[in-house]
Amino acid sequence: MQTNHLYRQYQQQGYLVLENFNTVAACDALMQRGEILANAYNFDGHPSVFQTTNQEATSTDYFLDSGSNISFFFEKDAFDAAGKLKTDPFHSMNKIGHALHDLDPLFDAFSRSPQMKELAAALGLDNYVIIQSMLILKHARVGGVVDIHQDATFLYTEPGSCIGFWFALEDATIANGCLWAKPGGHHTNLRTWFRRKAGGGAETIVLDKEPFSMEGMIPLEVKKGSCVVLHGLLPHCSMPNTSGRSRQAYAIHCIDRTAHYPEANWLRRELSSLKGF
Ligand code: FE2
Repeated sequence: MQTNHLYRQYQQQGYLVLENFNTVAACDALMQRGEILANAYNFDGHPSVFQTTNQEATSTDYFLDSGSNISFFFEKDAFDAAGKLKTDPFHSMNKIGHALHDLDPLFDAFSRSPQMKELAAALGLDNYVIIQSMLILKHARVGGVVDIHQDATFLYTEPGSCIGFWFALEDATIANGCLWAKPGGHHTNLRTWFRRKAGGGAETIVLDKEPFSMEGMIPLEVKKGSCVVLHGLLPHCSMPNTSGRSRQAYAIHCIDRTAHYPEANWLRRELSSLKGF
């Protein structure tokens, strides 16, 4: 790894694309594990199952509780009115998260691979911990749009320190909904903070009213095995998957353990117990 060059490029662009970062076999093994977890999950009483009362509050609570376990998030409309899935659980899900990297041995090894240790060192992340992980399924024809956002909205620290690693488990193309981002777009302010409300539930606080725009955004089409590094302030998004092929990705997010991590952040972990790479 050309460490100086990588670090400079990351600072200038706000993202990096590293091809052939993970082997095809490692990507396949992770996807297989995700499918096993999904299909073994007992979703009786899951908040995504249609409920007559309090659906939104129950879904929010399920999300807020997911930081320290392996939770399952279904696609909108995955269940019919009788509470039955329209297809198998795996193909009904949007994502799985948010502590896969700490609770599942295969996800742990993938998140802390030798090449990941090397990359973290190249980017100067010695004090960083992995705080969140997600398996994003983006199934064929089902995976929806992810609106423009900054990852630091969900992992707010003072000073800002959020950095994401997005691993393509399959080829990501415009047709199956690859990431889009603007080179250098991270030289901007954090727009919003998604946090817990004092009385329960969650809210989004506006920090800077400047609207997001697609201007200058380019598609990050990458091959299976690639790693995309994303600065926490870099606005990015992805389009719906209109193709017949899924676009699975695994993402981890890291923060500096020496930065201030407000209590109000949605994700609550005991920071001192979290591990780096
Ligand atoms: Fe993101």
